[in-house]
Amino acid sequence: MRIILIMRLTPNDRLFVLTGAGISAESGLATFRGSGGLWNGYRVEEVATPGAWDADPELVWRFYSMRRRDALAAQPNAAHVALAEIEQKLGDQFYLCTQNVDDLHERAGSHRIHHMHGTLFQSRCVHCNVPVADKALHETATDLPTCPECGALLRPHIVWFGEVPLDMEGIYRELDRATVLLVVGTSGSVYPAAGFVHVARQRGIRTVYVGPEEPLNANAFDEIVLGSATGVLPGLLSSACPSA
Ligand code: APR
Repeated sequence: MRIILIMRLTPNDRLFVLTGAGISAESGLATFRGSGGLWNGYRVEEVATPGAWDADPELVWRFYSMRRRDALAAQPNAAHVALAEIEQKLGDQFYLCTQNVDDLHERAGSHRIHHMHGTLFQSRCVHCNVPVADKALHETATDLPTCPECGALLRPHIVWFGEVPLDMEGIYRELDRATVLLVVGTSGSVYPAAGFVHVARQRGIRTVYVGPEEPLNANAFDEIVLGSATGVLPGLLSSACPSA
Protein backbone atom coordinates (compact mmCIF):
# COMPACT_ATOMS: atom_id res chain seq x y z
CA MET A 1 0.00 0.00 0.00
CA ARG A 2 1.35 3.46 -0.82
CA ILE A 3 0.11 7.02 -0.73
CA ILE A 4 -0.60 8.59 -4.13
CA LEU A 5 -0.78 12.24 -4.97
CA ILE A 6 -1.92 11.99 -8.57
CA MET A 7 -4.11 9.76 -10.69
CA ARG A 8 -3.67 10.14 -14.44
CA LEU A 9 -6.26 8.68 -16.79
CA THR A 10 -5.62 8.00 -20.47
CA PRO A 11 -8.35 8.07 -23.15
CA ASN A 12 -8.59 4.28 -22.86
CA ASP A 13 -9.34 4.31 -19.15
CA ARG A 14 -12.79 3.69 -17.73
CA LEU A 15 -13.35 5.01 -14.22
CA PHE A 16 -15.74 3.21 -11.85
CA VAL A 17 -16.43 5.21 -8.68
CA LEU A 18 -18.08 3.78 -5.57
CA THR A 19 -19.18 6.27 -2.93
CA GLY A 20 -20.44 5.79 0.62
CA ALA A 21 -21.79 7.91 3.43
CA GLY A 22 -18.41 9.62 3.92
CA ILE A 23 -18.78 11.68 0.75
CA SER A 24 -21.85 13.38 2.18
CA ALA A 25 -20.36 13.82 5.67
CA GLU A 26 -19.01 17.27 4.84
CA SER A 27 -22.48 18.25 3.64
CA GLY A 28 -23.65 17.64 7.19
CA LEU A 29 -25.22 14.20 6.71
CA ALA A 30 -24.24 11.74 9.41
CA THR A 31 -22.38 8.57 8.48
CA PHE A 32 -23.69 5.26 9.77
CA ARG A 33 -20.90 3.82 11.84
CA GLY A 34 -19.01 6.80 13.30
CA SER A 35 -19.90 8.52 16.54
CA GLY A 36 -23.04 10.52 15.93
CA GLY A 37 -23.69 8.02 13.13
CA LEU A 38 -27.17 7.50 11.82
CA TRP A 39 -27.78 4.20 13.43
CA ASN A 40 -26.85 5.71 16.81
CA GLY A 41 -30.05 5.78 18.76
CA TYR A 42 -31.72 3.40 16.31
CA ARG A 43 -31.04 -0.30 16.16
CA VAL A 44 -30.69 -1.35 12.52
CA GLU A 45 -33.18 -4.14 12.90
CA GLU A 46 -35.74 -1.63 14.27
CA VAL A 47 -35.69 0.55 11.18
CA ALA A 48 -33.87 -0.98 8.20
CA THR A 49 -35.01 -4.55 7.73
CA PRO A 50 -38.14 -6.10 6.20
CA GLY A 51 -38.96 -7.41 9.69
CA ALA A 52 -38.81 -3.88 11.10
CA TRP A 53 -41.28 -2.74 8.46
CA ASP A 54 -43.67 -5.58 9.25
CA ALA A 55 -43.45 -4.84 12.96
CA ASP A 56 -43.73 -1.05 12.94
CA PRO A 57 -44.11 0.85 9.64
CA GLU A 58 -44.74 4.09 11.52
CA LEU A 59 -41.32 3.90 13.25
CA VAL A 60 -39.65 3.08 9.94
CA TRP A 61 -41.33 6.05 8.26
CA ARG A 62 -40.33 8.35 11.15
CA PHE A 63 -36.70 7.31 10.65
CA TYR A 64 -36.76 7.84 6.87
CA SER A 65 -38.70 11.10 7.26
CA MET A 66 -35.88 12.34 9.52
CA ARG A 67 -33.39 11.37 6.84
CA ARG A 68 -35.47 13.08 4.13
CA ARG A 69 -35.56 16.25 6.21
CA ASP A 70 -31.77 16.17 6.76
CA ALA A 71 -31.02 15.47 3.09
CA LEU A 72 -33.36 18.22 1.88
CA ALA A 73 -31.52 20.71 4.08
CA ALA A 74 -28.06 19.60 2.90
CA GLN A 75 -26.10 20.94 -0.06
CA PRO A 76 -23.66 19.08 -2.35
CA ASN A 77 -20.02 19.64 -1.40
CA ALA A 78 -16.83 20.04 -3.43
CA ALA A 79 -16.36 16.26 -3.66
CA HIS A 80 -19.79 15.74 -5.23
CA VAL A 81 -19.00 18.57 -7.64
CA ALA A 82 -15.59 17.12 -8.54
CA LEU A 83 -17.24 13.83 -9.52
CA ALA A 84 -19.85 15.62 -11.62
CA GLU A 85 -17.07 17.55 -13.36
CA ILE A 86 -14.99 14.51 -14.22
CA GLU A 87 -18.13 12.85 -15.60
CA GLN A 88 -18.39 15.81 -17.99
CA LYS A 89 -14.87 15.04 -19.20
CA LEU A 90 -15.10 11.25 -19.36
CA GLY A 91 -18.68 10.81 -20.59
CA ASP A 92 -19.56 7.14 -20.84
CA GLN A 93 -16.05 6.18 -19.71
CA PHE A 94 -17.34 7.11 -16.26
CA TYR A 95 -19.75 5.29 -13.95
CA LEU A 96 -20.77 6.29 -10.45
CA CYS A 97 -22.25 3.70 -8.13
CA THR A 98 -23.35 5.06 -4.78
CA GLN A 99 -24.49 3.33 -1.63
CA ASN A 100 -26.00 6.64 -0.57
CA VAL A 101 -29.71 7.28 -0.76
CA ASP A 102 -29.44 11.09 -0.69
CA ASP A 103 -29.60 13.08 -3.94
CA LEU A 104 -26.48 15.20 -3.47
CA HIS A 105 -24.64 13.62 -6.41
CA GLU A 106 -27.53 14.50 -8.73
CA ARG A 107 -27.80 18.01 -7.31
CA ALA A 108 -24.06 18.47 -7.98
CA GLY A 109 -24.70 17.53 -11.65
CA SER A 110 -24.03 13.77 -11.85
CA HIS A 111 -26.06 11.87 -14.47
CA ARG A 112 -24.35 8.51 -14.91
CA ILE A 113 -25.22 7.43 -11.39
CA HIS A 114 -26.73 4.30 -9.91
CA HIS A 115 -28.13 4.18 -6.35
CA MET A 116 -27.52 0.55 -5.43
CA HIS A 117 -29.25 0.92 -2.04
CA GLY A 118 -32.26 2.82 -3.39
CA THR A 119 -33.18 6.48 -3.05
CA LEU A 120 -34.59 8.51 -0.21
CA PHE A 121 -36.97 10.49 -2.41
CA GLN A 122 -38.88 7.59 -3.87
CA SER A 123 -41.44 5.32 -2.23
CA ARG A 124 -42.99 2.17 -3.59
CA CYS A 125 -46.19 0.23 -3.09
CA VAL A 126 -45.63 -2.99 -1.14
CA HIS A 127 -47.90 -4.76 -3.64
CA CYS A 128 -47.44 -3.03 -7.02
CA ASN A 129 -43.71 -2.50 -6.33
CA VAL A 130 -43.47 0.51 -8.65
CA PRO A 131 -41.29 3.37 -7.30
CA VAL A 132 -42.89 6.83 -7.27
CA ALA A 133 -41.39 10.24 -6.47
CA ASP A 134 -42.09 11.18 -2.85
CA LYS A 135 -40.43 13.95 -0.84
CA ALA A 136 -43.10 14.09 1.85
CA LEU A 137 -42.54 13.46 5.54
CA HIS A 138 -44.67 10.66 6.98
CA GLU A 139 -44.34 10.86 10.72
CA THR A 140 -47.56 9.64 12.29
CA ALA A 141 -49.74 6.58 11.88
CA THR A 142 -52.48 8.72 10.34
CA ASP A 143 -50.32 10.08 7.52
CA LEU A 144 -48.63 6.91 6.30
CA PRO A 145 -48.71 7.03 2.49
CA THR A 146 -50.83 4.60 0.49
CA CYS A 147 -50.87 3.51 -3.14
CA PRO A 148 -53.38 5.43 -5.30
CA GLU A 149 -53.92 2.25 -7.37
CA CYS A 150 -54.54 -0.43 -4.73
CA GLY A 151 -54.57 1.32 -1.35
CA ALA A 152 -51.69 -0.73 0.10
CA LEU A 153 -48.96 1.02 2.10
CA LEU A 154 -46.07 2.72 0.34
CA ARG A 155 -42.66 1.85 1.81
CA PRO A 156 -39.38 3.74 1.40
CA HIS A 157 -37.63 2.75 -1.87
CA ILE A 158 -34.57 1.70 0.13
CA VAL A 159 -32.66 -1.58 0.05
CA TRP A 160 -32.81 -2.86 3.61
CA PHE A 161 -30.52 -5.36 5.30
CA GLY A 162 -31.40 -8.79 3.97
CA GLU A 163 -32.57 -7.39 0.60
CA VAL A 164 -30.72 -7.51 -2.70
CA PRO A 165 -29.16 -4.23 -3.96
CA LEU A 166 -30.58 -2.79 -7.17
CA ASP A 167 -29.28 -3.82 -10.61
CA MET A 168 -26.25 -5.85 -9.50
CA GLU A 169 -26.01 -7.13 -13.07
CA GLY A 170 -25.48 -3.61 -14.41
CA ILE A 171 -22.96 -2.84 -11.67
CA TYR A 172 -20.85 -5.91 -12.39
CA ARG A 173 -21.04 -5.19 -16.13
CA GLU A 174 -19.53 -1.75 -15.48
CA LEU A 175 -16.98 -3.16 -13.06
CA ASP A 176 -15.96 -5.72 -15.65
CA ARG A 177 -14.99 -3.09 -18.17
CA ALA A 178 -13.50 -0.52 -15.76
CA THR A 179 -9.75 0.09 -15.70
CA VAL A 180 -9.69 2.07 -12.46
CA LEU A 181 -11.81 1.63 -9.32
CA LEU A 182 -12.01 4.69 -7.06
CA VAL A 183 -13.78 4.15 -3.73
CA VAL A 184 -14.66 7.11 -1.52
CA GLY A 185 -15.95 7.35 2.06
CA THR A 186 -17.23 3.87 2.83
CA SER A 187 -16.24 1.70 5.78
CA GLY A 188 -15.98 -1.46 3.67
CA SER A 189 -18.28 -3.31 6.04
CA VAL A 190 -21.41 -3.86 3.95
CA TYR A 191 -21.46 -6.36 1.09
CA PRO A 192 -21.72 -6.68 -1.84
CA ALA A 193 -20.28 -3.14 -2.22
CA ALA A 194 -17.34 -3.95 0.07
CA GLY A 195 -16.46 -6.79 -2.33
CA PHE A 196 -16.12 -4.64 -5.47
CA VAL A 197 -12.45 -4.07 -4.68
CA HIS A 198 -11.89 -7.84 -4.62
CA VAL A 199 -13.56 -8.20 -8.04
CA ALA A 200 -11.41 -5.37 -9.37
CA ARG A 201 -8.30 -6.89 -7.86
CA GLN A 202 -8.98 -10.24 -9.53
CA ARG A 203 -9.16 -8.39 -12.84
CA GLY A 204 -5.86 -6.68 -12.08
CA ILE A 205 -7.18 -3.13 -12.41
CA ARG A 206 -5.98 -0.24 -10.29
CA THR A 207 -7.85 0.31 -7.02
CA VAL A 208 -7.75 3.51 -4.98
CA TYR A 209 -9.48 4.40 -1.69
CA VAL A 210 -10.07 7.94 -0.38
CA GLY A 211 -11.21 8.64 3.17
CA PRO A 212 -9.94 9.89 6.51
CA GLU A 213 -9.30 6.40 7.87
CA GLU A 214 -8.58 2.99 6.42
CA PRO A 215 -11.69 0.97 5.56
CA LEU A 216 -12.11 -2.61 6.84
CA ASN A 217 -11.11 -3.96 3.40
CA ALA A 218 -8.03 -1.69 3.18
CA ASN A 219 -5.68 -4.56 2.42
CA ALA A 220 -7.35 -5.19 -0.90
CA PHE A 221 -6.59 -1.70 -2.28
CA ASP A 222 -3.48 -0.79 -4.26
CA GLU A 223 -3.55 2.74 -2.93
CA ILE A 224 -5.08 4.49 0.05
CA VAL A 225 -5.28 8.28 0.20
CA LEU A 226 -6.00 9.32 3.76
CA GLY A 227 -7.97 12.56 3.79
CA SER A 228 -11.47 13.94 3.58
CA ALA A 229 -13.46 13.69 0.36
CA THR A 230 -13.48 17.46 -0.17
CA GLY A 231 -9.79 17.71 0.72
CA VAL A 232 -8.71 15.05 -1.77
CA LEU A 233 -11.15 14.61 -4.67
CA PRO A 234 -11.10 18.08 -6.31
CA GLY A 235 -7.30 17.99 -6.74
CA LEU A 236 -7.09 14.28 -7.50
CA LEU A 237 -9.79 14.38 -10.18
CA SER A 238 -8.93 17.69 -11.83
CA SER A 239 -5.39 16.46 -12.43
CA ALA A 240 -6.61 13.03 -13.59
CA CYS A 241 -7.47 14.14 -17.14
CA PRO A 242 -6.30 17.76 -17.41
CA SER A 243 -6.30 17.92 -21.20
CA ALA A 244 -9.82 16.57 -21.77
N1 APR B 1 -14.63 12.11 3.58
C1 APR B 1 -14.49 10.82 3.19
N2 APR B 1 -14.84 9.78 3.98
C2 APR B 1 -15.32 10.06 5.21
C3 APR B 1 -15.48 11.38 5.67
C4 APR B 1 -15.10 12.45 4.80
N3 APR B 1 -15.20 13.74 5.16
N4 APR B 1 -15.99 11.32 6.93
C5 APR B 1 -16.12 10.02 7.24
N5 APR B 1 -15.71 9.25 6.20
C6 APR B 1 -15.67 7.79 6.10
C7 APR B 1 -15.48 7.07 7.40
O1 APR B 1 -14.08 6.95 7.69
C8 APR B 1 -16.11 5.72 7.13
O2 APR B 1 -15.16 4.82 6.63
O3 APR B 1 -16.93 7.37 5.63
C9 APR B 1 -17.13 6.01 6.01
C10 APR B 1 -18.56 5.86 6.43
O4 APR B 1 -18.80 4.51 6.71
P1 APR B 1 -20.27 3.99 7.05
O5 APR B 1 -20.89 4.90 8.04
O6 APR B 1 -20.17 2.57 7.41
O7 APR B 1 -21.08 4.19 5.69
P2 APR B 1 -21.11 3.27 4.40
O8 APR B 1 -19.86 2.50 4.26
O9 APR B 1 -21.55 4.13 3.27
O10 APR B 1 -22.30 2.27 4.77
C11 APR B 1 -22.65 1.30 3.81
O11 APR B 1 -24.40 0.44 5.19
O12 APR B 1 -25.83 1.20 6.75
C12 APR B 1 -25.76 0.69 5.48
O13 APR B 1 -27.10 0.91 3.58
C13 APR B 1 -26.29 1.64 4.46
O14 APR B 1 -25.31 2.39 2.38
C14 APR B 1 -25.05 2.12 3.75
C15 APR B 1 -24.11 0.96 3.92
